[in-house]
Amino acid sequence: MTNRRRFLKTAALGAAAAALSPVAGAVDAGASGAPTKGAVRVVSTWDFGVAANQAAWSILSRGGHSLDAVEAGARVPEADIKNHSVGLGGYPDRDGQVTLDASIMDADMNCGGVACLEDVEHAVSVARRVMERTPHVLLVGQGARQFALEQGFKKQNLLTPAANKAWREWLKTAHYKPVINSEVRSYGAGVPGGKDNHDTIGILARDARGKLAGACTTSGMAWKLRGRVGDSPIIGAGLYVDGEVGGATSTGVGEEVIRNAGSFLVVELMRQGRTPQEACKEAVLRVLRKHRSTAGDIQVAFLAMNKDGEFGAWAIQPGFAYAVCDAQNQRALIKSGSVLGA
Ligand code: GLY
Repeated sequence: MTNRRRFLKTAALGAAAAALSPVAGAVDAGASGAPTKGAVRVVSTWDFGVAANQAAWSILSRGGHSLDAVEAGARVPEADIKNHSVGLGGYPDRDGQVTLDASIMDADMNCGGVACLEDVEHAVSVARRVMERTPHVLLVGQGARQFALEQGFKKQNLLTPAANKAWREWLKTAHYKPVINSEVRSYGAGVPGGKDNHDTIGILARDARGKLAGACTTSGMAWKLRGRVGDSPIIGAGLYVDGEVGGATSTGVGEEVIRNAGSFLVVELMRQGRTPQEACKEAVLRVLRKHRSTAGDIQVAFLAMNKDGEFGAWAIQPGFAYAVCDAQNQRALIKSGSVLGA
């Protein structure tokens, strides 16, 4: 049964939220059952989160701050030219321009973001500069680029030969029309959220002082319309942290996350007493309920960690995994539960 048909069947049955989903399970070494409360810990979206977590852990394990940890973690996939959905080497928009979106936030409501940033690899670090060195929260486009260069970030061409080749292949059949989730249709594993359909990195950390921070960075949807901005740089959509409650981040089709103020929603659900996993699951179901005509065919996933370091995730489609790193488990990769099947 296709995901679409399975979703429609599910909708027709009017199944309660709780009845829709399989239980998440560990797919790699390490996840040791119920997470210990109060741990120093970092969690990241997707399997490339394992490497990101290592960079974050090198800071956390020495008593460093969660804000430094999430920035260091997010920079890892940003610099990886084999990763075509984050940073350098990301697939471009339909005009062949790589544009980056990123945000960062700490436990005290300090936050910053950049959207549609060109020519600068480490969008997450520019987002941090916006947070720390301007009175603003979000800079976009040419203004973001100008700010980054003024701050001393290196100007570089982000379109790698591999991404350029993929774009030119896409142009042959695309009729210059952007298609939602087109990276899946053209280059992914064939299903939204499949193993090759890697997307945004969202990363959340809790340091030894008990302080949370989060970051989120992406090159966005492949072949998007020029100027398109996704959820990742938007505080409350792709990322939200409230030190009194916890943090959340998202991956997948940003339009659906923005519509639902997704990460803010997850944090508010945790504030009302849900566990991180319950909150992510409810937010995913909200996305589905609010936009049934399209949401069943795309991937959206949320990852959350509460102020005690407990974590959880949920996705629309199967295939989403997240990485966890703490003193017990350095390289755990956990398969998320999903609404539309295991
Ligand atoms: N979640 C990334 C994007 O939609 O751009």
